[in-house]
Order: sequence, then C-alpha cells, then structure tokens
Amino acid sequence: MASKKILVIHGPNLNMLGKREPRIYGTTSFNDINKNLLNLGKKLGIVVDTFQSNHEGAIVDKIQEASQKYEGLIINSGAYTHTSIAIRDAILLIKAPVIEVHLSNIYKREPFRQKSMIAEVATATLCGFGHDGYYMALEALARMLK
Ligand code: DQA
Repeated sequence: MASKKILVIHGPNLNMLGKREPRIYGTTSFNDINKNLLNLGKKLGIVVDTFQSNHEGAIVDKIQEASQKYEGLIINSGAYTHTSIAIRDAILLIKAPVIEVHLSNIYKREPFRQKSMIAEVATATLCGFGHDGYYMALEALARMLK
C-alpha cells in the first residue's frame, strides 16, 4: 500500500527557530524540527514534506497545491495566523484534516496574538507545547488517517 503523505507548512520567521526569541520559542533549530518530523513520519509510515516561506502568497500557492497532493496538513502560519484571510480561505480548499500548531500558547500572550484566523477553519489546534506540538500533531494525523 502506498504511504500516506502529509505536508508541514511553516510561516514567516519560523526558519529562525533556535535563534529567534528562545525564551518563547525554545532552542531547537528549525532544521532539527524538520528532521524530527521526517524521522517520526518514517516510524508512523507517513511521508512528511516540509515547506517554509516568509511570503503570504507563497503559502497560499502551496496550500492550493496541497489540496490535490496530501492527506493531511500541519500549519504554523506564524504572524499571518492573526491577519491572513487569504491563508484562511486557502485552507477551506483542503478536504483532508488540517492541524494548526503554535509553539507558544497564543492565548496567554499579547491581545493581538489571541485571535487566530486559522482556528475556525482547522480541524484542531495545538499550542503551547513548544516543538513537541508538531510531533503531537503528526501523531494525531497518523491516528486520523488509519
Ligand atoms: C507563533 C505565534 C505567532 O504569534 C508568532 O507571530 C509566530 C510564532 C508560534 O508558533 O507560537 O511567528 O505562530
């Protein structure tokens, strides 16, 4: 049987993880998070593709492409979470489960971070678990796809 494929999208500034505000986002690097996701995917029998962009339109393009190719999506849209109706609208194209992830607990932070444009259109949201949130999301998707 062909392996299931899922996509992980990382939004703006997440390529700086490890160096960026480590007190809030932790010290694990962006590359290590992606490696851990790929390795966990192998254990779960899921092919994991990753994509990062600092550009809203590039993220929209990737989500449109994903609607044809993947059986699940994990997305941390970074600061666009709080502003992007375009990313929200693109997510509505996806029939597969979509898990929104944030390293920090956005509901405990500044008021402008407490509104997510994505939450209402995602299947589920995980926030406040640091980088573990990505792995938890992948495990949850693996269960949903069984
Ligand atoms: C974030 C939270 C956002 O408010 C912020 O702009 C980020 C990261 C998180 O993972 O906690 O870039 O999405």
